[in-house]
Amino acid sequence: MKEGLNRDADNRNKSTTPGVIYKDLYILGSTVGEGPGPAAPGYIRAFDVRSGAVVWTFHTIPLPGEPGYETWPPEAWKKSGGANSWGGITMDEERGVVYCGTGSAAYDHWGGDRIGQNLYANCVLALDAATGVKIWHYQVVHHDIWDYDIPCAPNLVQVQKDGKLIDAVAQPTKMGHLFILDRDTGTPVFPVEEVPVPQSDIPGEVSWPTQPMPPISLRYTRQGFYEHEITDLNDEATTFVKDQIKHMTMGDLFRPPNRDSALIMPQFNGGTDWGGAAYDPFNRKLYVNASNEAEWISMFEAPKNESILQFDLGAKIYQTQCTFCHGSAGQQLQNAHSFSTLKTIAGQRTDDNLREVLSTGKGLMPKFDWLSDGEKNAIIAFLKDKGKDLSIDLSKISVNFANNIPWLATGHNPIKDNEGYPINKRPWGTLSAIDMDSGTIDWQVALGTYPSLEAQGFEATGTFNLGGPLVTAGGLVFIAATMDERFRAFDKDTGEMLWEFQLDAGGYATPATFEVDGKQYLIIAAGGGGIPGTPPGNAYYCFSL
Ligand code: HEC
Repeated sequence: MKEGLNRDADNRNKSTTPGVIYKDLYILGSTVGEGPGPAAPGYIRAFDVRSGAVVWTFHTIPLPGEPGYETWPPEAWKKSGGANSWGGITMDEERGVVYCGTGSAAYDHWGGDRIGQNLYANCVLALDAATGVKIWHYQVVHHDIWDYDIPCAPNLVQVQKDGKLIDAVAQPTKMGHLFILDRDTGTPVFPVEEVPVPQSDIPGEVSWPTQPMPPISLRYTRQGFYEHEITDLNDEATTFVKDQIKHMTMGDLFRPPNRDSALIMPQFNGGTDWGGAAYDPFNRKLYVNASNEAEWISMFEAPKNESILQFDLGAKIYQTQCTFCHGSAGQQLQNAHSFSTLKTIAGQRTDDNLREVLSTGKGLMPKFDWLSDGEKNAIIAFLKDKGKDLSIDLSKISVNFANNIPWLATGHNPIKDNEGYPINKRPWGTLSAIDMDSGTIDWQVALGTYPSLEAQGFEATGTFNLGGPLVTAGGLVFIAATMDERFRAFDKDTGEMLWEFQLDAGGYATPATFEVDGKQYLIIAAGGGGIPGTPPGNAYYCFSL
C-alpha cells in the first residue's frame, strides 16, 4: 500500500476500513495523515485478488494532464496529501460502479499551500469498477478548512418522482446535510444551492466563496451556533456556559477557523460520522444518526525565530501532531492511548526509548522521523513534565514540526457545562428517518440518555454518538452508538423505542444480522473508548430472536 504514491509515503498510508470485491478486484481506499506534517495522497486502488498487483489507481489528487489538476497549485500532486476514502466504499454490482466518499485535503485547517477548489477532496465519486475511470464527481465542501471529511460510505437508494423510480446514492455528512445524487449522472435529485459563506482572514489562506447547501428539509442537525442554542438544562448551567463562551464567536455553519475562538456546530466529528446510514428499499426511507454538539477552534501562528521554553515547544508540537489520536491534555479520554496514559508510559521509559518510538513509529502510530532531534527532545520534555525553565532558541533547531505550514489550529477543543454536559440545547444526539421520495424528515427522535439526568427526570436527552444503524425487513431499526452504552431497537415507521439493552462498553460500531440454520442473529462490537469519558471494552454481543 506504500508504493505508487508519488512520494516516499512509508507507513503514512494504511487502511482502517475494508474495501469491496468486484469480480477479481479488491477495491480499497486508505487512511492517511491530516496533520501539518507530511501526508500521503488518498488514491483509490484496485488490487488483483490473486497476485496483489495494482490493476488501477484513481488519483484523488490529480496528476498533470488529468482533469481536476487545475483545482490545485501546480506542484500539489507531489506534496499535498489527504483526499482519501476512509469511510468505506459502496459497490453497485449491476452497474459495475463503485461510489466512494473522500475526506478533506491535508492540512485540515490551513489550505494556503493548496489554494483552489481541491478536487477530488470531499467528493462523492462514481468510478467504473473495472477500470477506475471516473464517471462523475460531486463535491460537498469546496476547499475544506474544517476537517468536514465525507466520513461514511454512500447508500444506494431509490427515489420515486413523477411516477418513476430514479436510482440514486444518498450521502450523509458531518455537516448534517444529506445529498441525494442521481446514480448515473451525479446530479442532485433535490436542488442544491451554492450559498455565499464568510471568508478567512488568516494570512495566506484563500477560502472558497460559496458552499453547497441541500434543501432545509435535508439538513438533519443543528446548523451553526447562536446565543439561543445555549443549554437550558438549569439556570446554573446557562449562566456558566454564557460566561465560558463570552469571548468566543458564534454564527453560521462554514465560518472559517480564524484567530478568535470560534464555536463550531456541528463539531468536527459531525453530524454523522463513520456509522453512516441504513436504507430500507421497501419504504424508501434512510435511517441516519447524528450528534448535535459544539466544539471550538482557533488558529495560531507557528512559532519561528524566537526563544521558547522547551516544555512549551513540546506542548505546541503535541497539540499539532499528536492530539488527533491521543487527545488533548485537558481531555479526559479513557482509551488506551490517551494523553494521561502517554504520560504514564513516558514516565516508565528512557528518553532513548521514546526517541525510538518517534523515529520508527509503532503499530498504527506513524513515525515522526522528520522531526529534528531538538523537537523530539521537546516532546519528551513535555510528556515528562521537564524543560519548564530550559529556554531554546528556535533559530538553532529546524522548526519543521509545522512542515512549513505557517498557521496551525489549536485542535478540536471540547467545551462542556459546569457538570460536564454539552453546552447547547437538547437533543444532543438524534436518529432520523428521511423519506427519499419527498426529501423530508419523516421522524426524528432523541438517541441516548445520560443516566444521571434520567434520574433527575430528563428523559432521552440524546448523547454524542458514533456507529451506525441497521434496518431489518421485519420493521426494526437497531442501533447502539450512544454514550450510555445501550443497544436499542426502534419501530421503523414511527421511531418509537421498542427495546433496549445495557452493554458493558459503547457499541461504537454498526450492528450486523445473519442467519444460521434458519435462525436469525444480531451482532454488535462493543469496543467503547471512542468517545471521551467512556471506557474501552472488548466484546461482541450476539442476540437471537
Ligand atoms: C495516527 C494516530 C497517532 C498519532 C498521530 C500519534 N500516535 Fe502515538 N500512538 C498511536 C497508537 C495507535 C499507539 C499504540 C501503538 C501500539 O502499541 O501498537 C501509540 C503509542 C504511542 C506511545 C507509546 C509507545 C510505546 O512504547 O508503547 C507514545 C509515547 C506515543 N504514541 C507518542 C506520540 C506522540 C508524542 C505523538 C505526536 C508526535 C503521537 N504519538 C502521535 C497512534 C498515534
